[in-house]
Amino acid sequence: MQVLRVTGGARLAGSVDVVGAKNSVLKLMAAALLAPGDTTIGNLPAISDVAIMRELLERLGCAVTESTQDSTDRVTISTPAELNPEAPYELVRRIRGSICVLGPLLARTGQAKVALPGGDAIGSRPLDMHFAGLSRMGADIRTEHGYVVAEASDLHGASIWLDFPSVGATENIMTAAVLAKGTTVIDNAAREPEIVDLCRMLVAMGAQIEGIGTSTLEVTGVEGLRPTSHDAVADRIVAGTWALAALATRGDITVRGANAGHLEIALDKVAQAGGDVEVTADGFRVVMDRRPKSFDVVTLPYPGLATDLQPQAIAALSVADGTAMITENLFEARFMFCDEIARMGADVRTDGHHAVVRGRERLSSAPVRATDIRAGVGLVIAGLVADGTTEVAEIHHIDRGYVRFEEQLRSLGADVERVESATFGG
Ligand code: UD1
Repeated sequence: MQVLRVTGGARLAGSVDVVGAKNSVLKLMAAALLAPGDTTIGNLPAISDVAIMRELLERLGCAVTESTQDSTDRVTISTPAELNPEAPYELVRRIRGSICVLGPLLARTGQAKVALPGGDAIGSRPLDMHFAGLSRMGADIRTEHGYVVAEASDLHGASIWLDFPSVGATENIMTAAVLAKGTTVIDNAAREPEIVDLCRMLVAMGAQIEGIGTSTLEVTGVEGLRPTSHDAVADRIVAGTWALAALATRGDITVRGANAGHLEIALDKVAQAGGDVEVTADGFRVVMDRRPKSFDVVTLPYPGLATDLQPQAIAALSVADGTAMITENLFEARFMFCDEIARMGADVRTDGHHAVVRGRERLSSAPVRATDIRAGVGLVIAGLVADGTTEVAEIHHIDRGYVRFEEQLRSLGADVERVESATFGG
């Protein structure tokens, strides 16, 4: 088993580059299914989720090639005229994001058989809004033998209200609506930067979408879409992770290739904690020279504070001066992370979807396990502010979303290494 061995004490200082967002790239890759021909996506992150999405697209009939141009990674997806509409369980279960092939497959082939991804470590993740929206557009949807089977000989426009601004449901409905007959209105749509990114790519492919970036999207179906070339939006969660790592370690980190406008609340929290935040032309810099002050966190759909930054915020708060209240409104099981960081001496108490963090001067090293991607990096940040050497196991989670994480940490001065450990925790 591979673990990250993190020795605490260093102040992170230097520059890091952020590339395209995992949560955008996976959807952009799936959207390539909508147009026969070669679609290229740039600013590609070299993460394991992209490799799995690649395998899935190949299984659906695409040829996929990766290349590097001007030192950025790109992927070209050659989509055939005839697609295989079945997404198998062995791939879907490895990345939940792969459910985003449902809308494009249905729109292109009139049918889709996509394995149900099941639950995961951040909690119950139902797909009811995806299914209700596609049903309203005329799809017949049923689940059988662990698969969602969808058929639609004639997808048509519809008026759809989402009970909650779900990112995945907005994406699946939108990518089906771009080729449906008539106009689909999605009310209470998600407006994350990754949704805007997908809209922009779809428009470049010839789609008609109004209201981009608002909570009402109006999509008028067109006869066909054409392939395009598109660079993925910067990963705001990776950028926010660096901001919180700078805060926790009293560091000085310049983040390049990011959009500070996508992190307004997170950077405002960093400033409240005493960090000096400077927005630059291509990112931001966070300088921290003292112990952070506590701040409260409420996770909400964008433009609220991202749930994907919650564990990293708790890591910083666990060494802050004061008491913080965390309210998690999206994924209840995300607090499993609190049990791990508590093993490192963090004073965290949870009750339902609230947690109270009483800051300590320092944490103490312990063997801990990453329960999901963001919990993994949260534990690494905790290790950086702990006495001794912390071993973080299950780091395949971190590799799903962070490019060469430990190398970047080392370039900032951290004492971190990836080692094989046969005796983790023993
Ligand atoms: C995406 C991101 C994930 C991020 C999340 C919220 C990807 C691959 N993942 O996940 O990293 O944490 O957005 O920003 O992009 N819900 C339902 N029924 C549904 C759909 C969702 O009840 O049909 C609920 C979920 O349980 C959750 C909330 O709605 O409580 C938001 O989920 P959603 O926005 O759909 O998240 P994902 O798209 O799965």
